[in-house]
Amino acid sequence: MTAAPVFDKGLANTIAAETQASFIDGAKGVLEYVGYDIDSLARNSTFEETVFLLWNRRLPNAAELATLAAELRAEYDLPEAVWQMIRDTPRTAHPMHMLRTLVSSLGMFDREADDNSPEANWRKSVRLLAKTPTIVANFDRHRKGKPLVRPDATMDMATNFLNMLNGARPTVAVAKALDVCLILHADHGLNASTFAARVTISTLSDMYSAITTAIGTLKGPLHGGANEEVMHMLNEIGTMDNVEPYIKERLARKDRIMGFGHRVYKAYDPRAGYLKTFAKQIATDTGNQGLYEMSTKIEDIMKAEVAAKGIYPNVDFFSATTYHSIGIDLDIFTCMFAISRISGWTAHCMEQLAANRLIRPMAEYTGPHGLSYVVMSAR
Ligand code: CMC
Repeated sequence: MTAAPVFDKGLANTIAAETQASFIDGAKGVLEYVGYDIDSLARNSTFEETVFLLWNRRLPNAAELATLAAELRAEYDLPEAVWQMIRDTPRTAHPMHMLRTLVSSLGMFDREADDNSPEANWRKSVRLLAKTPTIVANFDRHRKGKPLVRPDATMDMATNFLNMLNGARPTVAVAKALDVCLILHADHGLNASTFAARVTISTLSDMYSAITTAIGTLKGPLHGGANEEVMHMLNEIGTMDNVEPYIKERLARKDRIMGFGHRVYKAYDPRAGYLKTFAKQIATDTGNQGLYEMSTKIEDIMKAEVAAKGIYPNVDFFSATTYHSIGIDLDIFTCMFAISRISGWTAHCMEQLAANRLIRPMAEYTGPHGLSYVVMSAR
């Protein structure tokens, strides 16, 4: 016999899946991928190694890591039709609309799209992860009227992305900064977009559909779209003097301050802690100290005003300063989140399929019953 259903708005108290990808202790501010603390991974790992960890539930040896890196590099390039779609995309399109559409289109060019065997889904995970940076970087070039840049299979994912975006190889420090951001965003329990991906794959649909669903879900400002909103806020505030009145006025109006608060963390988001140190370094190196200082002032005011409610900076807050300092346009920020999170989404899809049960909750009907149908002419 199944237990009586319980209404749980926002599913905040519902455990809807088992996972071995990541663990969060929201009260203590802990995040682990497969048992490894996020801080140790950010300090010691690379994005490619973190992907291996999420997909295999263990760290690779040197040969295994080299094999995955080679598999990814072999898939950086796009079908010619997708290059053409980039050229045909309106330059004014928001990059997340573009990304959702073009990632979806990849499914039409993959003969394995509907093969849900573990082997085919691994290969599709590699393709999705490898091709997405090529799409994002080249859409940014297209909209700026710059010639498209083919991926370079001699480079790791972070270096290759920036090389395509800027048409020049980044410094080792800047590529490393991006690599760390990719590690920090790779997975995060059953967040809204991961849940959406798992719902889609649980119908035995396909990996491209699941990742397209996830991108659409990530886009919202309560989820991945918050990093772009943080940058808009920093631009709007403009000066240090304006920080305090701006934040206090918004709090008085009960507005949300973007980049703060989290459904699970009621302590400092460990990713934000790491990104704060990082943002300071990269902002200083690139002459963006002003942004960093404005961010810490916002944090101080928020601490005095709302820390008692368990509201602290989340991953999106200091990633805005970091991405801006790396030279990435603000409307591309959420695409950066997606580029990384594809590793987690695909890990969860493979996990879901390994022990699948259709995810299908219930709704509490709150409307009327027993109404008599009235013909149109009589309404
Ligand atoms: N600014 C001001 N007050 C806030 C904020 C915020 N950012 N976040 C929550 N609160 C307040 C909220 O008003 C409520 O106060 P009260 O109890 O007095 O009515 C209380 O905190 C609890 O809020 P909630 O809406 O019940 O919390 P939630 O778990 O549903 O929301 C959240 C979580 C992330 C949607 C929310 O904190 C928020 O809107 N934050 C801003 C958007 C943001 O930064 N999102 C990125 C999340 S982290 C990256 C990711 O996962 O994508």
